[in-house]
Amino acid sequence: QESHTKQVQEIAADRNHLPERYIRKQDEEYGSLTTAGLSSPMTDDIPVIDISLLTSSPSELHNLKSAISSSGCFQAINHGIESSFLEKVREISKLFFGLSIEEKKKCFREDNDLEGYGNDMVLSDNQTLDWTDRLYLTVLPKHKQKLQFWPQNPTHFREVLDEYSSIVESINKLVQKALARSLNLEENCFLDQYGTTSTMNARFNYYPPCQWPEKVLGVKPHADGSAITVLLQDKEVEGLQILKNGQWVGVPIVRDALTINIGDQLEIMSNGIFKSPVHRVLVNSKNERMTVAMFCMPQTEKDIGPVDGLVTDETPRLYKNVTFTTEFFFENYQQGRRALDACKI
Ligand code: SIN
Ligand code: FE2
Repeated sequence: QESHTKQVQEIAADRNHLPERYIRKQDEEYGSLTTAGLSSPMTDDIPVIDISLLTSSPSELHNLKSAISSSGCFQAINHGIESSFLEKVREISKLFFGLSIEEKKKCFREDNDLEGYGNDMVLSDNQTLDWTDRLYLTVLPKHKQKLQFWPQNPTHFREVLDEYSSIVESINKLVQKALARSLNLEENCFLDQYGTTSTMNARFNYYPPCQWPEKVLGVKPHADGSAITVLLQDKEVEGLQILKNGQWVGVPIVRDALTINIGDQLEIMSNGIFKSPVHRVLVNSKNERMTVAMFCMPQTEKDIGPVDGLVTDETPRLYKNVTFTTEFFFENYQQGRRALDACKI
C-alpha cells in the first residue's frame, strides 16, 4: 500500500528497503513488447542530424529518413536553441524537483488523472512500477493548460515552459515537413492531419538513484503515443535505451542536442515506414537523472490514418484510422501492450 502513495524520491531515501511493486519481473519483460535486454547494451550509432540543413541538403534529408525508418530516433543539432536556454529548462526542472515533497504536492495529480506531479500511475494490480517521479502538463493548446498543476515555484517556471513549448512546436513542424519531403510527399501531408491545433504535453522526469539499479527500471519498455517526442536529456547522466534489431542500444548524451524519436501516430500516418521505437530507461546507484520530454501530436480526438500517397497496391494499408486519446495509448503501455497492435488492420 505504502509504495502506491509514496513518491519514488521518498522510497529511494530508505536505502535498506525496496518495495516489491518496483521490482522488475524478468520473465514477463513486458509481454509482446520485448524479450531482449539480457545481453549487454551496445552504444550504437543513434545518428546525429543537423536539422538546419534539412531544407538545403538532400544527403542530410536522406540521413533523417534512414534514421527514422530504422531506429526511429536521432540526435538533433543546430536546432537554433541557445545552450543557455536549454540550461534554463533544465534549471526549472531541477528547482522544482528540489522542493520539499509538501511543496511539490501543491501540484499533486488527482487520482489517476494524468496531469500533475506524481509517481507511476497504477492501472492494474500486478503492474510493476517505474522508478521515477514525474510532472506531466498539457502545454498546447494554451487554453487546455491546467494551471492549477503548474508550479508557482520557481516563479519563472511558466514563462520558461511556455517559451520552450513554442520553440519545440516549430521544431516539430520542421521535422514533420522534412519527413514528408523525404518520402517525396507534399510537405504538409502529416501536419494536415493535425486538425486545427496541435497538442503538446510536457513530462518532467526525475529518476532518483537506486541501491539496486538492476532490479528496477526508470521506465518500462514502451513506445510513445505521440507523433514525435523531443527529449532534453540530463546533461551528464545517461539511461535511455532504444530497441534496435532486437538489441538495447544506449542513447548517448550529445552536448546541446535534442533527442528526437517517432511515436505511434507517425508510424500510423506513414503506414509503417517510420518506426516508433520501443525504449526503456535504466537507473543507477550513484546519480539522479532528470529529463524533459515534449510529446508533439495532433489535436486531441482527431482521427488519424495512413496518408493517401502511402497506401498502394504494393504497400497496402497497415493501420485503421484511429481517434487518438492519450488514455488509450497509456492504458496499453502501462500493461505491457503495444498500443499500435490495437490499430492494425
Ligand atoms: C521516456 O521515454 O518516457 C523517458 C525517456 C527518458 O527519460 O530518457
Ligand atoms: Fe518514451
